[in-house]
Amino acid sequence: MIPIAVLYATREGHTRRVAEYIAATLRVRDWPAGVVDVRSVKEPFVLGRYAAVVLAASVHRGQHEREMIAFVRRHLEELDRMPAAFLSVSLSERGVEDPAASPEARAKAELDVRAVLEAFFDKTGWRPKHVKPVAGALLYTRYGMLKRLVMKHIVRAEGGPTDTSRDYEFTDWEALDRFVDELVAELSAPEARSAQAS
Ligand SMILES: Cc1cc2nc3c(=O)[nH]c(=O)nc-3n(C[C@H](O)[C@H](O)[C@H](O)COP(=O)(O)O)c2cc1C
Repeated sequence: MIPIAVLYATREGHTRRVAEYIAATLRVRDWPAGVVDVRSVKEPFVLGRYAAVVLAASVHRGQHEREMIAFVRRHLEELDRMPAAFLSVSLSERGVEDPAASPEARAKAELDVRAVLEAFFDKTGWRPKHVKPVAGALLYTRYGMLKRLVMKHIVRAEGGPTDTSRDYEFTDWEALDRFVDELVAELSAPEARSAQAS
């Protein structure tokens, strides 16, 4: 079976975990999958070797990782021709999914998620068919002092957790299972199978 590529860009490592989880879940469903850090990609990197590609990037200061933006720009033509999905890992999505948040706070978080995605689409020229915002993590114990303070300040303003002696993970792993199920169903459809064979 032709493998699926899961490429990621991360700053603090959580998006690598998301990418590894997606690949492991694909393998459990009998699809071979490889995980690649876009920073380590050696060009020419041929996406056409893969049945599909999942790209995952985290958000920092209102932008997706610049190495993912550069990768998508370089591979735009291939991405437009093949089954491809984009996962956007952020804390804003945590605000969207937070059951304790007010409807106003959730609506604002949703606007933030959308705005950052739209900026990514504009910068890259890529409009993937499948886009999945993913709630990321707050890794207080791994940040340097300044970053920890800044994040605590931002998170407090948004009503999030501020105990900096521990980390918080907000990712809905079961939602990622469902995302993988949808991808596998699409790739297993007869039309997709004949496209892979040709
Ligand atoms: C310095 C810093 C800036 C961040 N800026 C944003 C932001 O603008 N919007 C957002 O939704 N999340 C923001 N986040 C949250 C990250 O997207 C979240 O922690 C994510 O899980 C990081 O993924 P990574 O570990 O793969 O880099 C920020 C986090 C840090 C540490």
